[in-house]
Amino acid sequence: MTHPLSASHYSDHASQAKVRIVENVPIAKQTYRLRFDCQEIATRIVPGQFVMIRLADGDDPLLARPFALYDTVLGVSGKPVGLDIVYLVLGKMTTRLAGLLPGTELDVWGPLGNGFSSQESGHLVMVAGGIGQTPFPALAQEAFGRRSYGDPPRSVAAVQRVTLCYGARSSDYLADIDRFEHLGVDVRVSTDDGTAGHKGLVTDLVKGVLSEKKADEQIRIVCCGPEPMMESVAAIAAQSDISCQVSLETPMACGIGICFSCVTRVRDATGEWDYKRTCVDGPVFEASQIEW
Ligand SMILES: Cc1cc2nc3c(=O)[nH]c(=O)nc-3n(C[C@H](O)[C@H](O)[C@H](O)COP(=O)(O)OP(=O)(O)OC[C@H]3O[C@@H](n4cnc5c(N)ncnc54)[C@H](O)[C@@H]3O)c2cc1C
Ligand code: FES
Repeated sequence: MTHPLSASHYSDHASQAKVRIVENVPIAKQTYRLRFDCQEIATRIVPGQFVMIRLADGDDPLLARPFALYDTVLGVSGKPVGLDIVYLVLGKMTTRLAGLLPGTELDVWGPLGNGFSSQESGHLVMVAGGIGQTPFPALAQEAFGRRSYGDPPRSVAAVQRVTLCYGARSSDYLADIDRFEHLGVDVRVSTDDGTAGHKGLVTDLVKGVLSEKKADEQIRIVCCGPEPMMESVAAIAAQSDISCQVSLETPMACGIGICFSCVTRVRDATGEWDYKRTCVDGPVFEASQIEW
């Protein structure tokens, strides 16, 4: 085993591939689903892990960008052959991605990061802000026992219930609600402008779900989105003594532990904090350990 400060400690578990885009389609305002064949990564990736993507045809932007697993794509044999990621058009890379046609080559490496823990509870509550819903389709599939992920496939105790609290700026940014509902997820929506669901914060939805908690119900929260929203959800979970994991979206340069561009302050068991690399120690952390 190599030393944890050595890049190979992490990158040896990842593979790098030149892939071709199969599909790149809009699914909501400024939001696209990108599909590419990549059997080696698709076979091993688990929910909450991510891949780094770089445009293969030049050096602008020079650095790759991280994107969460949306879901794996199964081939005719039922085995994973490709990946879906979903991205919001934000800056240079995502603007260029949105213009790419099927057949275009990308450089991809992964699977990276730790992923969500596989211990499920009776009721899994997924909390998403904006594009933070992207790690959840695969997690919901796994929690319901519909799909397995990893090689060998990791085992997860199935849940009784999955709820998604999903907050967005307005209704046109909400992506793939039908997909979650089709899986059997109880979807609750909030928008800043009231164009869909509750007009207000996604944290109001979380408080609502927790207020309905039955005495013997075991709830686990997983959360991804803007940092202030995750901090608020972490505080709500702590007040209710509920386990909460957050998936951080810290900007990253390498994704494999070399550059330390992605550090965040994480507390250990003694309460002392230290900088941890989100790409290799995360992106998923216990919310109670983050020094917000
Ligand atoms: C583990 C992980 C998983 C991610 N998964 C997804 C995903 O599934 N879908 C998705 O759309 N995005 C995801 N992101 C965020 C995504 O990597 C960035 O949005 C992307 O780097 C933007 O690239 P760009 O070149 O288009 O924008 P840039 O030109 O790099 O940035 C444009 C603007 O956005 C700001 N910015 C860039 N990255 C972030 C960030 N992470 N948080 C806040 N502000 C930022 C920049 O400071 C700048 O102001 C993920 C990030 C991480 C760390
Ligand atoms: S992105 Fe380089 S160390 Fe994390």
